[in-house]
Amino acid sequence: MTKKAAVITGASSGIGMELARLFAADGYDLIVTARRTELLQKLSDELAKAHGTKVSIIQMDIAQPYAGEALWKAVSDITPNVEVLVNNAGVGDASEFSTESPDVIERMIHLNISTLTSLTRYALPQMVLRGSGNILNVASLAGYQPGGPGMAVYYATKAYVLSFSRAIRCELKSSGVSVTALCPGATATEFEQTAGAQKTLLFRWSKPMDAKTVALAGYRGMQRGCGEVVPGWMNKFLAVSPRFSATSMALAINKRLLARHR
Ligand SMILES: NC(=O)c1ccc[n+]([C@@H]2O[C@H](COP(=O)([O-])OP(=O)(O)OC[C@H]3O[C@@H](n4cnc5c(N)ncnc54)[C@H](OP(=O)(O)O)[C@@H]3O)[C@@H](O)[C@H]2O)c1
Repeated sequence: MTKKAAVITGASSGIGMELARLFAADGYDLIVTARRTELLQKLSDELAKAHGTKVSIIQMDIAQPYAGEALWKAVSDITPNVEVLVNNAGVGDASEFSTESPDVIERMIHLNISTLTSLTRYALPQMVLRGSGNILNVASLAGYQPGGPGMAVYYATKAYVLSFSRAIRCELKSSGVSVTALCPGATATEFEQTAGAQKTLLFRWSKPMDAKTVALAGYRGMQRGCGEVVPGWMNKFLAVSPRFSATSMALAINKRLLARHR
């Protein structure tokens, strides 16, 4: 790859796909990953035609132990110089914890936490050595909440992503490498269906933002070197609101918002 390279996980749909379009329009070559190669191939054809982007596709299930290491090996075979890592792939599951599938829980923690963490670990040394680079971690508005009864594991994984991103950003101050956490609220993507979130009051009551707007906010925030990006005014309010309410009250409200209805 001759141009600057960006690695984007979960580029086959939703926010990840919109981020890929933004990076391509800005002249990056891309390394994209997901399980559905046909969608990645379609995206690759679109971006090659529109911008002459070189897109390398890695098909991988990254919800497995040590997937970060395997993915980084595959990335390194393509280029030793990654300018941007976008940890976007993530899944949710609107379920009561005591009856939630152990397999779903395991995979969610691997994908949302372990793979994101190890990919970041593998990407950073060359960025620090070079004195430039960007990490864009897709967290969630859920990360600001004291907890998500009805979606407990998902909320906890996103609190991890936010906390982790803040901490390494602080460690990397003055290194030339920026770390940004993108924290979207409800967004119209496949997530609504795959996480079962469409049945919750949260998704029924709120008007989900479109993925393009969310991706653009994250992309611009990353370019400006922002630590946290919460797209949308209502979401910004919701991100700070737990600071002004009792934890028990915030949890009770979340429990109601995350209850599943037929
Ligand atoms: N939509 C929302 O309301 C919302 C709100 C806040 C935060 N977020 C976060 O935004 C990020 C992107 O989600 P989205 O809303 O754009 O949902 P989406 O349309 O469902 O996209 C999820 C992406 O992750 C990939 N992925 C899922 N499981 C994978 C696996 N095991 N291995 C490899 N790739 C996998 C999917 O690709 P394949 O299926 O092809 O593998 C897909 O490209 C997630 O981290 C999510 O938690 C979403």
